[in-house]
Amino acid sequence: MFGAISRSVLVFAPTAVRQSRCIASLSALPDTYQMLYKTCRDFAEGELKPNAAKYDRDHLYPGEAIKKMGELGLMSIAVPEELGGAGLDYLAYAIALEEVSRGCASAGVIMSVNNSLYLGPVQGWGTDKQKQEYITPFCGGDTIGCFALSEPGNGSDAGAASTTAKDGGDKWILNGTKCWITNGYESKASVVFATTDKSLKHKGISAFIVPKPIKGLELGKKEDKLGIRGSSTCSLIFEDCNIPKENILGQPGLGFKIAMMTLDAGRIGIASQALGIAQASLDVAVDYASKRIAFGKPIMKLQAIQNKLADMAMQLESARLLTWRAAWLKDNKKPYTKEAAMAKLAASEAATFLSHQCIQILGGMGYVSDMPAERHYRDARITEIYEGTSEIQRLVIAGQVIKEYGF
Ligand code: CAA
Repeated sequence: MFGAISRSVLVFAPTAVRQSRCIASLSALPDTYQMLYKTCRDFAEGELKPNAAKYDRDHLYPGEAIKKMGELGLMSIAVPEELGGAGLDYLAYAIALEEVSRGCASAGVIMSVNNSLYLGPVQGWGTDKQKQEYITPFCGGDTIGCFALSEPGNGSDAGAASTTAKDGGDKWILNGTKCWITNGYESKASVVFATTDKSLKHKGISAFIVPKPIKGLELGKKEDKLGIRGSSTCSLIFEDCNIPKENILGQPGLGFKIAMMTLDAGRIGIASQALGIAQASLDVAVDYASKRIAFGKPIMKLQAIQNKLADMAMQLESARLLTWRAAWLKDNKKPYTKEAAMAKLAASEAATFLSHQCIQILGGMGYVSDMPAERHYRDARITEIYEGTSEIQRLVIAGQVIKEYGF
């Protein structure tokens, strides 16, 4: 099919892709962020990038790499040091997660879910006892958590949860199915949303910490996905699953708010993952364009290619600034719902655009798995879907804008 392409002229080793020397805006940040960036970049180059194709091809959970990420503090970046975390902030998280995802988008989402969707709500609403039990052991990378909100009958309409939690005196009894759960297979605990009173709609939803394994909880099949195939996704099926009464997170009925606030933070994580995929696509595109000769010169000298590179770089940089702004707002305790949605929307669409353009620049070589471009293209797609589709992000942004005008 690709016989016309002479591979021999492509002196291309995917692990030796030339990369941009800096992220321009990074130099304006304090040393801590620059050191973190360098650490994550070196780690991603040395440990993640060389193995990312294998994780993808074999659907392999990158357990060793995640453990090392835990040792570096990357699995619990914003958790205070006294609880076993790195004690950094969300800007640090965004920078680190982008670099990890630049090396391997699967490692990126595993990191994002553990940090934002699992540790985030336990840290935010957990009791001291819950924090000791369900945060500290989940900081080191060998034990991870997950977040169970979506159901077969409701994804975007998160308030329509039909999984039930019945008050059983000294316990809660959970029944129902949660689906699309990232880290579902490996996780040792999950933050689960279930309704205690369906007539109250979203105000009847509560959040629970469910340890795994536990009687009454079965895992569905491991989903065979288009991308991020090194991370697991499966359903959690509850059938009379009894959990201790004390495992409720926050107050009864607070679950929907916990889910929404958790997703605000999670969207900064997914935006950062998308930035990493986008940056990796730009790296591959520039490197290839510098080596591929057409019409007597490297194709990066052609204006048609330069136009593409310009648009790619602009989308990437603008999405990065939105993401860092959302993180900065969160770190400074300012409202950031709209900004996180904007960051996620812009970054996920940038990842889709850049990975698409990267394949276009590589032509046939972009379409085969010898090169990472097609993996980046597949990995990018989910960033427009999970933790709220692009359509939901637009809904959230518009809702906030309308509110700002006093309606
Ligand atoms: N922060 C705090 N409170 C919020 C909030 C936020 N960001 N967003 C909404 N709320 C509150 C509202 O103030 C309101 O409170 P009151 O009842 O006190 O008035 C309440 O929540 C209901 O708000 P809405 O009427 O706006 O809620 P809605 O039912 O219309 O839904 C929605 C809004 C934005 C569409 C929401 O359902 C949503 O975000 N859906 C997408 C869900 C999602 O992202 N799912 C992904 C699951 S995780 C995943 O992807 C799996 C994985 O493993 C990665």
